Amino acid sequence: MNVLLIGGGGREHALAWKISQSPLLKKFYAIPGNPGIENFAECVKNISAENNSDIVKFAQEKNIDFVVVGPEIPLVNGLVDELEKVGIKSFGCNKKAAQIEGSKIFAKNLMKKYKIPTANFEVFDNLSDAKNYISSQNFPIVIKADGLAAGKGVIIAKNFDEALNALDEMKNFGDAGKKIVLEEFMDGEEASVLAFTDGKIILPMIPAQDHKRIFDGDEGLNTGGMGAYAPAPVVNPDVMKKVQEKILNPIIAALNEEKIIYRGCLYAGLMIQNGEPKVVEFNCRFGDPETQVVIPLLKSDLLEIMLACAGGNLSEKKISWSKDFAICVILASGGYPKSYKKNFPIDGIKKAESLGAKIFHAGTKVADSGQDTGDRKMLTSGGRVLGVTVTEKNIQSAIEKVYKCVDVINFENMHCRKDIAAKALKYFD
Ligand code: AMP
Ligand code: GLY
Repeated sequence: MNVLLIGGGGREHALAWKISQSPLLKKFYAIPGNPGIENFAECVKNISAENNSDIVKFAQEKNIDFVVVGPEIPLVNGLVDELEKVGIKSFGCNKKAAQIEGSKIFAKNLMKKYKIPTANFEVFDNLSDAKNYISSQNFPIVIKADGLAAGKGVIIAKNFDEALNALDEMKNFGDAGKKIVLEEFMDGEEASVLAFTDGKIILPMIPAQDHKRIFDGDEGLNTGGMGAYAPAPVVNPDVMKKVQEKILNPIIAALNEEKIIYRGCLYAGLMIQNGEPKVVEFNCRFGDPETQVVIPLLKSDLLEIMLACAGGNLSEKKISWSKDFAICVILASGGYPKSYKKNFPIDGIKKAESLGAKIFHAGTKVADSGQDTGDRKMLTSGGRVLGVTVTEKNIQSAIEKVYKCVDVINFENMHCRKDIAAKALKYFD
């Protein structure tokens, strides 16, 4: 079959790598793709991943049978609904279902109504009421813009003054910040459980853990994610059972009750304290960088599973996973998540691959001309540049190997965390 993948980050590179192994695949396209995805798919750079009508037109012209949507914006904008209108199936949820990520208020109200464990919260549509409310609250308190804010719309305020400043900052999030959620702070360890669903059953993938802060020891600014590992031992079998019974099954039932059919990947961002999971957020898509560790552990045919999600017959599929340990270290441009310089040549990708790493591209481009670095003249072109993933039999050898591979890659101002997966070590003493 002919498949079109939407997106161009490390997540989509990992998905493309796996989809390309399916015997069901005939022709493979990506919009816009990236230089890593180019190894598997024809990348169409002149169509935006956020332009529904151009994507639909392209899919019709190229006789696409199945579209895999990576990022949240096309899902929230209803790309899957538009494709369905012209008879093209997709892996990804429809516009109504995507509200679970597109509106924090929608997600929080749904969890409240159906008693799915999450932090207590209040919603405000004007700043003065929100300011009054915080004067009677305990700190820290969590302040969230309602809509999509590229991961930046959440501020944890440690005291009253920080909370006041944070409320004022909500203005900077445009429409997303017009409504505000004030939320109880949850202590504990975070984990991400991504799950396949066909709207009837929901099957979790291997649990993962992201590293959101820019510096070691979880210091500094929030980023899109600086590295991940899987399985995350904080989600032990007992916790996973609770996640399935108290969160995943009930959220699918709740959505059905609300006449919303959710098909695709549902991402549950969790806080786990004393073995009890609570929902921090739901996302309507695969996580990044979590996908860069979870998908390399998948033994089954990803395209087949995605088709079963779209077709409503996931219960017929057996999904098998490797017992290995996967780690991904993100190599970022110095300065990220604030401003950074681009266009630096990248050395060592092939060397790292020869040492056993999978290199997933996120912010790279092929140079038009100029220095040949021996790595297809690759240049940096984004904040998160590459994901370096290894899979090994155990966590210690995975950590050792991933950093050996990281050491051979180089570009000017390169920054990475040196403590990816260190948090997991305490579970293996
Ligand atoms: P969100 O966009 O809702 O996932 O929030 C981004 C990050 O803020 C999460 O990954 C958590 O690290 C943190 N966070 C959000 N809500 C809470 C909460 N209620 N308690 C503690 N940390 C939170
Ligand atoms: N890793 C965080 C996210 O994908 O939202």
